[in-house]
Amino acid sequence: MAVSIKSEREIELMRQSCRLLEEVHDELGRFVKSGISTLDIDRYGEQLIRERGGIPNFLNYNGYPASICVSVNEEVVHGIPRKDRILQDGDIVSLDAGMIYKGYHSDAARTYPIGNVSPEVLQLIEVTKQSFFEGIKMAKAGNHLHDISNAIDDYIKPYGYGIVHDLVGHGIGTSLHEDPQIPNFRQHRRGIRLEPGMTLAIEPMVNLGRWEVEWLDDDWTVVAIDGLPSAHYENTILITDGEPEILTLSH
Ligand code: MF3
Ligand code: CO
Repeated sequence: MAVSIKSEREIELMRQSCRLLEEVHDELGRFVKSGISTLDIDRYGEQLIRERGGIPNFLNYNGYPASICVSVNEEVVHGIPRKDRILQDGDIVSLDAGMIYKGYHSDAARTYPIGNVSPEVLQLIEVTKQSFFEGIKMAKAGNHLHDISNAIDDYIKPYGYGIVHDLVGHGIGTSLHEDPQIPNFRQHRRGIRLEPGMTLAIEPMVNLGRWEVEWLDDDWTVVAIDGLPSAHYENTILITDGEPEILTLSH
């Protein structure tokens, strides 16, 4: 399938959807603390999305049963919120959220420490976030898609972390997942040429230990095979004639 190029009108709608999602994330970032359940986060997140006139795009996506993916510690992504999963001091929690606004999808993820988290794990969170910024330095018209993938991999490699291979970033627009797929690890082909008007969700998922993951019996939750913590960071971006615009991050 071809990669869609958004018109000015569509770009404006993507900006609106993403800006509203950023507000949702900001509120959720203030909400997370020890003692709350992962279901509390989902309930509040869904409320924040709907209050803004959005529709949670993850809810019922391929049968996913919630609005927010809440992944704790060794859970990489797609953790299903539960009322008996209570956040505790020393945990890390990844929140992945998205919405549809006026027909356009947004998608972003953040990882937060809860209380006192070891310096080693705080560094994992920071390096995962920074790898996104290293990746998008290459997100310019005329460059190729896998320049982004390679830049993410190059940045993470010296830390010895495991980059998740089984899940990738993606194009986004009138669907949550559009072409192209965007791996977070080194590619031997250069991939498609980047063009202004492409909107992409770039989302490195990085494990403290080994890169291999497995799926729990709920068929959703992806966990690090060695049980060590994992971090996730994601924004929806726009390719322009110059620097990329980070649509889900305005400040
Ligand atoms: N950011 C995730 C992704 O791009 C969110 C999808 S979760 C799902 O795949 F529940 F919607 F599948
Ligand atoms: Co995504």
